[in-house]
This record gives sequence, C-alpha cells and structure tokens, in this order.
Amino acid sequence: MTKLLEIRDLTVSYDHEVILRNANLTINQGDFLGVIGPNGGGKTTFIKALLGLVKPAKGEIVFHIPENRIGYLPQINQIDKRFPITVLDVVRSGKSDHRNFSLFSKNREEIAHAESLLKEMGVLHLRDKAIGELSGGQMQRVFLCRSLMNKPELLILDEPDTFVDNQFESELYDKLKELNERMAIILVSHDVGTISYYVKTIACVNRSLHYHPSNIISTEQLASYNCPLQIITHGEIPHTVLGQHGEHDHKHDHNHGHHH
Ligand SMILES: Nc1ncnc2c1ncn2[C@@H]1O[C@H](COP(=O)(O)OP(=O)(O)OP(=O)(O)O)[C@@H](O)[C@H]1O
Ligand SMILES: [Mg+2]
Repeated sequence: MTKLLEIRDLTVSYDHEVILRNANLTINQGDFLGVIGPNGGGKTTFIKALLGLVKPAKGEIVFHIPENRIGYLPQINQIDKRFPITVLDVVRSGKSDHRNFSLFSKNREEIAHAESLLKEMGVLHLRDKAIGELSGGQMQRVFLCRSLMNKPELLILDEPDTFVDNQFESELYDKLKELNERMAIILVSHDVGTISYYVKTIACVNRSLHYHPSNIISTEQLASYNCPLQIITHGEIPHTVLGQHGEHDHKHDHNHGHHH
C-alpha cells in the first residue's frame, strides 16, 4: 500500500484548550475515509491541521505527496453572496502550483481545464454567473471543481452535503465514488448513516480520534469511540451500519470496491 500521509501523535490546541489529542492515522492510496463526530468535536480542526492551516501543539504530519496535490473543499457556513466573482474564476482560483497565478491572465490550458471540470460536474452552463446567484447544490459543485484543479492525489471535503438536497447529495456521493478510483478521499460529515454506504473506513473525531477500519459501525462502537449517536442529523440509520460485525456478512456487498 502506498502511503500518502501519516499523522503521528497529533495534538491541536486553540489558545490553551486542547481540541484534538494524540491522533494517529495513515492515509493510503485508494482510501475513502469518512470523518464523523458531533458539532464542535474537532473535525474541521483536524482537517485544518492536516492541511497545515493550523499548527500542531504536538506531533507531526509526514507528507509523502507534494502538498499542492491535496484538494480541499472547505466547510461553507456562510458565503457573502455579494462577492463579485464568477463561477469560472472560482474554479480557476483552485490552481496554485505556480506563483504567478492571476485571474486576469488568460492561460488557455488552465481555462480549458476549469471548463472541463465544470462540464464533468454538469454546471458548465453556469460558467459566467456570479457565485452569489447559485443554489446551494450548484455552489457545492463549483467548489468541488475548484478542489480538483490541481489534479489531487488526496481530496479532502469538509461537509460538502451542507446546503444540499437529498437528490444532489446522492449524486455528489456517486461522483465521489467515481473520483475515488483516481484519488484518495477524506469526507467529513455528520451523517454517518448516509456516508457509511460510500466510505471504506471511518474515523470518529470527538476531541480524540478513533479509527475504524470498516464502513460498518455499531451503536456500541460509536459509543465506545466517544461518538454519540445524536450525530445523525437526519434520515434512518441503515441497518447495515448498526449490524454487529459478522452478523450481516451478506451486507458487505454494500462495501463496493473495498478490496480491489
Ligand atoms: N479559530 C478558532 N479559535 C478558537 N477556537 C476554535 C477555532 N476554531 C474552532 N474552535 C473551537 O474548537 C472546537 C472544535 O471546532 P471544529 O470546528 O473543529 O469542530 P467540528 O467538529 O468541525 O464542528 P462542526 O460539526 O460544527 O463543523 C470548537 O469548540 C470550536 O469552538
Ligand atoms: Mg466543522
């Protein structure tokens, strides 16, 4: 297995409050890791530490790929809808492997790449719209294109299902499954019920990190990992998620592509 990055004894604090203590995790090629946990549990902080956006208080992250080969879709809580930038330029702003990036330069190859991503996500027709004119689902698609601009080997998405209706949510996850054939993915979500159908492994983050090497997780395991069940924000919990290991082996079919 090819390692992409290793997290060793990572502790992150804000001011003097420890948000995440002693996390250890290795991300390998082909991984599709779901990160779950309650509000304020430290999921976003963990992701920011991975990306070097917050400095660890202790421990280290060892990168085996160039940092610009990590795509990132940040958690969007609120967007200034008046921000005057077009869809195409949002996507182009994800290009960061050269110092002289400018939205004013007309690099044809780069524009063509941005357009091909918009096309792939079915939103090329929105190319010249202002970002503030889009619906939540359209906006998430555009930000997904942006995170793909550097052809990442690892794609990190922080709650891309916010602002998104159920139909777009499953379209998005199907798309991620397809992208996972080309890149490793870390997907942060509240919705353990939905994502466990798509992810291969799970990390519960609630001030500590518990790695679970399967996409099937029981209520008891969630509790023992310090991840309360109330983290499920909507919908029924699929039976598969809560089955005891071994009890529902036939359901492993759901775990598409886990062992390729
Ligand atoms: N820049 C910051 N400065 C100080 N404290 C912060 C900062 N960012 C986050 N925190 C605190 O760290 C804790 C973890 O926040 P974080 O955003 O990582 O949680 P989360 O699991 O992503 O939550 P959510 O599910 O709501 O997105 C919270 O108590 C939050 O208030
Ligand atoms: Mg968060």
